[in-house]
Amino acid sequence: MKAAIMVPGADGGRWDIRDVQRPVVTAGHVLVRVHASSLNRAEFRRLHTMRVRPGQPMPEARTGGGDAAGEVVEIGRDVTGIKPGDRVMGRCAGGFAEFALLDAREVMPAPERLSWEEAACVPIVFVVVHDALLVSGQLRVGETVLVTAAPSGVGVATLLLAKYLGAKVIGTSRSAEKLERLKAHGLDLGSSPAATASPRRSLARSARIVSTWSSTISAATFSHPASTPLRSAAGSSRSAG
Ligand SMILES: NC(=O)c1ccc[n+]([C@@H]2O[C@H](COP(=O)([O-])OP(=O)(O)OC[C@H]3O[C@@H](n4cnc5c(N)ncnc54)[C@H](OP(=O)(O)O)[C@@H]3O)[C@@H](O)[C@H]2O)c1
Repeated sequence: MKAAIMVPGADGGRWDIRDVQRPVVTAGHVLVRVHASSLNRAEFRRLHTMRVRPGQPMPEARTGGGDAAGEVVEIGRDVTGIKPGDRVMGRCAGGFAEFALLDAREVMPAPERLSWEEAACVPIVFVVVHDALLVSGQLRVGETVLVTAAPSGVGVATLLLAKYLGAKVIGTSRSAEKLERLKAHGLDLGSSPAATASPRRSLARSARIVSTWSSTISAATFSHPASTPLRSAAGSSRSAG
């Protein structure tokens, strides 16, 4: 089968189209004919060798695409509840190929209302957010979620899911303009370096904040001027990020 191979390089890397062996379906896995796949942020960093420390070897070339959407063509031993022909989406290693192998435990139905491309962008980010809000955060209706870097990919997904679950959402960003645009998606309150005193006061009054995200920027965000009210509210918070 054809596959797009990600070849990392300090100059941004490159993509090679190569003939590779079609994956063999193992127990607990399903083989999917890929209609769309997406590139995760972590893969982008790998492609650009941004994760390589001095003295470390270059990452190996491998098929790109950490999420895929398509139709099931074959199921492995011990797989139940999934059958050939199902329209699915899920995380995978190597979605930029004609076929991809998915762990059956991570396979989700792809709703008809989503295009293949949209479905291929859902799994990783929404699984991460589901884990933060529901599994770890145990978010309850009426609670308040603090989303650092709300305009990020994970941040927007958190906003959408938190609103769906009946929570209030406070978001931070370096950009007041980005926060303004998120109001159309339900953002209740934004805090940026340009924030006025009024929202800062109401933010400081917020109780029981369930804070989420973001793993790599949280320290920087909490030392940022926009976060003064967040620190004052942190006494009543719990973190799920
Ligand atoms: N995407 C995923 O599926 C996924 C999965 C697991 C974990 N994560 C983690 O989640 C975090 C966000 O990932 P993402 O993919 O959603 O990122 P993203 O879409 O690239 O967004 C990154 C955000 O970081 C903020 N930012 C960038 N530089 C900054 C700086 N110098 N100071 C303060 N803020 C800065 C930007 O905020 P403003 O421009 O709004 O200020 C932007 O909204 C990362 O730590 C990532 O490793 C992501």
